[in-house]
Amino acid sequence: MSAPRPILIAPSILAADFANFGAECRAVGDQGADWVHVDVMDGHFVPNITFGPATCAALRPHIRGVMDVHLMIAPVDGFLEPFARAGADVLTVHPEANPHIHRSLQTIRTLGKKAGLALNPGTGLDAVEQVLDLLDVICVMTVNPGFGGQSFIASQVDKVRKLRALIGARPILIEVDGGITVETAPLVVAAGADVLVAGSAVFKGGSADRPQAYGHNIAAIRAAALAALV
Ligand code: DX5
Ligand code: ZN
Repeated sequence: MSAPRPILIAPSILAADFANFGAECRAVGDQGADWVHVDVMDGHFVPNITFGPATCAALRPHIRGVMDVHLMIAPVDGFLEPFARAGADVLTVHPEANPHIHRSLQTIRTLGKKAGLALNPGTGLDAVEQVLDLLDVICVMTVNPGFGGQSFIASQVDKVRKLRALIGARPILIEVDGGITVETAPLVVAAGADVLVAGSAVFKGGSADRPQAYGHNIAAIRAAALAALV
């Protein structure tokens, strides 16, 4: 029997204390996070505003693992280089954020970064078919982007399953983002997800001063996810 595939947990700092990002990133890293997911919003592509490349650059030294930058901004192309320079490891864009998404993905690869494409709940798999060979990560949004703490959209589980079949043997990670909890993680992992973004479910009950709750939450999500693989 082969070993189960690794499951990566990526806390979203959208649910962290915005006045204490450095300590929050160190805390989730110490408590078992694999990646840190950084949600960049422009108040235009999505109805909320967060932060830009300067904040990402300031966070970088506090993130031990992969810095996973989710760009919910349009147009996105002019910001790829600034976010690459800020130290992102993965840059994820939305197909709606630029009319020439193939070029955006080429640019990310040229900048030496892993390229991600995020699919909104209303966006079909046809958005990835023509660019599969330019992708390292496909992010299936299980909420409409813009806010943390929303309810998981169950219809997206089937999209994850179809995506897993479409990817075949390509080395592309499937990430899921939005409403991931101990209850929903097994559903997406059974369907084929590799990377679980979780904001509220990781940061609930703790703080950078009391990070044990983060460790407990990360371990609980990971255990529920791995149980779906056996
Ligand atoms: C939504 C963001 C998600 C979200 C995850 O626009 O992309 O990363 O913050 O937060 P939870 O886990 O609270 O749904
Ligand atoms: Zn996100």
